[in-house]
Parts: sequence; structure tokens; C-alpha cells
Amino acid sequence: MEYALDERIGKPELFTGRKEELSYFLKWINDVKEKKSQSTALLARRKMGKTAIIERLFNITFYKNDGIIPFYYEFKEKKMWVVDFCQEFFLTFIFQYIAFKTRKTEYLMPEYSGNFNKAAQIAKSEGLDYLCGIIENVAVAMTHDNLDILWEIVRNAPQTIAFRQKEFIVQMIDEFQFLNAMIYWDKEKKHLADDLAGGYLSTAEKKIAPLLVSGSWVGWLMDILIMTLPARFIYYILGNMPADEAVEMVYKYSQFFEIPVTEETAYLIAEMAEGSPFYISSIFRSLYKQKDLATPAGLTETLEFETLNNQGIIKATWMEYVQKAFSKVNDRNAKQIVLHLFKQKGRELTRTEIKEQLKLEMSDKELELKLEALVKGDIIDQGQTHFDFRCVHDNIFDKVFRGVYQKEIEHFEVSEIKKEYSRKLDSLEARYRELRGKYNYHMGYFAEYLILEKLRMQAREKNDFFKSITRYLPADFNFCFYSRVWRYDSSPEYSRRYNVDIFARAQNPGDYSIIGEVKNRDRRKFSREEVEAFEIKFQEIKKNEKLDRVVGFIFSRGGFTQEAEKYCREKSIACSKNEKWLE
Ligand SMILES: Nc1ncnc2c1ncn2[C@@H]1O[C@H](COP(=O)(O)OP(=O)(O)O)[C@@H](O)[C@H]1O
Ligand SMILES: [Mg+2]
Repeated sequence: MEYALDERIGKPELFTGRKEELSYFLKWINDVKEKKSQSTALLARRKMGKTAIIERLFNITFYKNDGIIPFYYEFKEKKMWVVDFCQEFFLTFIFQYIAFKTRKTEYLMPEYSGNFNKAAQIAKSEGLDYLCGIIENVAVAMTHDNLDILWEIVRNAPQTIAFRQKEFIVQMIDEFQFLNAMIYWDKEKKHLADDLAGGYLSTAEKKIAPLLVSGSWVGWLMDILIMTLPARFIYYILGNMPADEAVEMVYKYSQFFEIPVTEETAYLIAEMAEGSPFYISSIFRSLYKQKDLATPAGLTETLEFETLNNQGIIKATWMEYVQKAFSKVNDRNAKQIVLHLFKQKGRELTRTEIKEQLKLEMSDKELELKLEALVKGDIIDQGQTHFDFRCVHDNIFDKVFRGVYQKEIEHFEVSEIKKEYSRKLDSLEARYRELRGKYNYHMGYFAEYLILEKLRMQAREKNDFFKSITRYLPADFNFCFYSRVWRYDSSPEYSRRYNVDIFARAQNPGDYSIIGEVKNRDRRKFSREEVEAFEIKFQEIKKNEKLDRVVGFIFSRGGFTQEAEKYCREKSIACSKNEKWLE
């Protein structure tokens, strides 16, 4: 797939998992054609991977070129005059539209991003004359006094064009809450336009151009949606990644940044990060000088650095967020309340309990406003009812916060945090050993990644050895250099979904590529039916990837049934159950 929009994640391969979310939203986008999709808000605290998902959705939709035109706009946390904003919003849309219709991705980064005349000229020269009317209309509205009308035309532009051209557009608007907080009616930026979002009351209902909005200030965004856009949006809450995706991400980042991990530390990183893509990426990108992610002790030190050191990416990110939230309620009591809730982890407290336990001297109303503001800033969570509150569930945020503030409020030794990390890692190590014990494994809990590692690093050098522990390889087979060694997920743009554990593409077309399946956490023998199912995927990948010389390979720790074995021999599908592949 070609990635039209340059994704902020960096190399597109780094994008991991989010299978459930991608398939949900790809279906949602597809359903726009049936006018079935309702505007949706993707909610999660900052750095949870919202933008990563939205940019990927944009690229897939752009690439599919299947009657739905993607539009992506991100609000920055920057004050803007409404006229400048409308111009930017509108021309971003127009150029993305032109890029899609002409298939020329250079228009996603137009040279003349702020120029109406140029935009109209380009539209004309590309045979999209029908855009000229609306471009002119907006240019004229910009010079008028009535800026309400300007915003209305601009806001409705995607829908207007979709309607007139009988097309469908998805409008993906990132950090939507800033629409009501960063745009000013006047050039001097004194009069905040605090209800531009309200304009979406009818726009968001239009099924030919529904919105997918997202925001990192969840409480704040929800507030806007509930108060000014009631019942216009479905809420989709983005959580952490499931364990298998988190582990995959750890191995991928390890490979990409060339920072080795062991099976045990891979497990520990995924668990410590609680599946947060931001924590995993920060652990690998950490500036800690003695970073060693191949031992639990090294991992503990890296986590400590990230949590307590001002150069820690995690600490810096959270503190920026917390300070912004506190600037609205800044005082000692707010910090005390947050710390108190962290101490009562797992419990919800009522407003009255908080007031009594902390002996706060303020009115109920005052406390209510403070608690509300903290909820809006995602610093604490609302409990079951409007009167209950609890701490956010995030064991790293909790430590960053305490590391910064607890000292200031009560007598507290930061070394306590180090001990907590050690204790937590100890208990995770014990769990990891228990898991392996359950399967009687000495190693190879994540067998698929170990085999990938072997193919990447060792198989070519120890060609004879690895051949000797693998049956039914073609006579002229040799392990070789591979240009890509990873799992294979049929790209989400294809409607039929399947994946295999191994796809190693030979660098030199004369050598054999490998498509393989690994069966590990199951003691059953690999059956003939399973081989046949594998063969179908094998043929499909072979075709999609235009491979000529390629072998199928099945690693099954539990071995193979007799029929499976016979079938593999006949079909020349390589087999192994030898644990030397995992050492
Ligand atoms: N699916 C993913 N695969 C790999 N890395 C991810 C993924 N999602 C997020 N990340 C990492 O987390 C960081 C934050 O993600 P981002 O999409 O910017 O979060 P948000 O928009 O929610 O604030 C990214 O820069 C990237 O390093
Ligand atoms: Mg984002």
C-alpha cells in the first residue's frame, strides 16, 4: 500500500496492532456509502494512539479509492484569528479533495496552501471546475464582516461538495476540543469564539459526510459534545492495546531501534506499559544513557529514569499535561486531592469523603468545581455517579505524579518509587515463570518472535544446522539474507483478513522467501486440516506479494499428526518441532 499522507508515527511499518479499532472504523467508513454511519468521537487521553489510527485510516481510505473521500484536519493548540482558521481549514480540505480526485499526492502538501486564486487555478487545470464556485464564495466571505457566515460556508463545504457531486466524504477532525478554545473573532485575539463547535449541530447529522472527531482532553471534549452537540456523536473509547499486540510492538520497536530484549524483558515491558503504545515507544526511545532492555535490572533503571528524571519522555509529557490542567485550578488542594485518590487506588470516594478526609476548608460548591475541572483535565476519573471520584488507572502516571508532588506535600522519599518498580517487576517475573511452567517451557513462550529473530540474525550463517532440524525443504534451499522478516497481516484494506506468523522476503530473487506458521501455546499436534488452511493463506500471500521462489514452513511445538506429516512431505511444506529453533 502507498501511504499518501506522511504519518507522524515515522516509518509506516512501526504501526502495530489496533486490529479491532481499524476493522471497526474501516467498516464505519465503508458504511458511509449506505448512509449508515453516525458521527463518532474517538476518545482517549493524549498519546494513546488516536492520531496514529486516524492517519492510518486516512491513508487506507485514500489508497482504496473506493468512493469515499477522506479529509483530515488537526487543531493545534495555537490561538488563531477566525479568518485565518477558516482559510486553513477550507483550503486543507480543497487540496486533499483535489489530491484524492487526481491521485496526485503532492497536493496533500501544496506549495500554495494559503492562496485562493492558485487553488481555483489548480482545480480548473485538473478538470475540477466545479470547485471554483465555492472557492470564490469563501474568498468573498472572508472579506465580509459577517464571520458567522464564513464559518458556516467553510464548515459545510465538505458536505456541500459531497451532495452536489453525489459523493461521500469522511471528515476526520483531530483535537476537536480546541475549536472552542483557540479561535478568536478578532485579529488581536481578544474575543474568543467559544461556540464554533455548536455549528456542527446540524452538520454532524449529515450522513453523506459524517465526522470522526477525536480529542486528548477527554473530559473537556465530552463536555462540548454533551452540552452543545447532544446526541450527535457516538463515543468510541480507545483503550490500551491487548497483550498480544503490545508484545508485538515491543519486538517491532526492539528490531527497529536495534535495542535487544529477551523474551522475559519483552513480557515485562508489555506488562509494565499496560499496553500503552506511548509507554512502549518511550521506553525504547528513552535517553537514559545506560539503557539496557535485555535485563530486568536495566529495565527498572530505564523506567526510573523515565518516571523521575526531567529528561524522561514520559515524565516530560505528563508534567506538561498536568500543568496545563492545573493552571485552571492551581493550588495545593488540587494536588492533595489527586494524591489522596492515588493512595486509595481501586476505591471511589464521594465529595464529602474527600472533604472530610483531607480536612479541606472550602465550600461544597468550590470543591465541586475543582473536582469537575480535574475530571475535565483527565487528572482524575468520575466514579459510578456524579458524586464519586477515583484516581486514573495508570501505574506509571501515578508514579510520575507522586515523584513530583508528594515530596512537596508530605514527607516522602522518592526511593520508594524505585522500590515499587522493583516489587512490581518481581511479581511480573514470577507470573512469567508461572506461565512458562504451565506449558512446561524452558524457553520460547513467544516462539514466533524467536524464530523471526533466528531468520534475521542466524539462519544464514548456520545454514546447515537449521536445515538439519527442518524437514522437507527443497533440495536447492538455503537460508539467505532477507529484506524483511516479520509477521504478515493481510493489509486491512482487503476485506478478507488473515495473517501468518512468518514472512521473510529473500533479498535476492534467486533465493527462497519463507511464509510460515508457528504453533506454540497448544500441545495438540498440527493436523492435516490445519495444513490445508495454511496452504490457502500461503497461496494468497504468494500471489499478493508476487513471489516466485517461496517455501511454506510450519513450526509446531506439539508435532504433527501422521496425515499432516504425510501431506507436508507430498506438498514440500517444511516442518519442524525442534526447540533448537527457539534457543
Ligand atoms: N498502533 C501503534 N503502533 C506503534 N506505535 C504507536 C501506535 N499508536 C501510537 N504509537 C506510538 O505512540 C505515540 C503517540 O501516539 P499518537 O497517535 O500521537 O497519540 P494521540 O494522538 O492519542 O495523542 C506515537 O508517536 C507512536 O510512537
Ligand atoms: Mg494526536
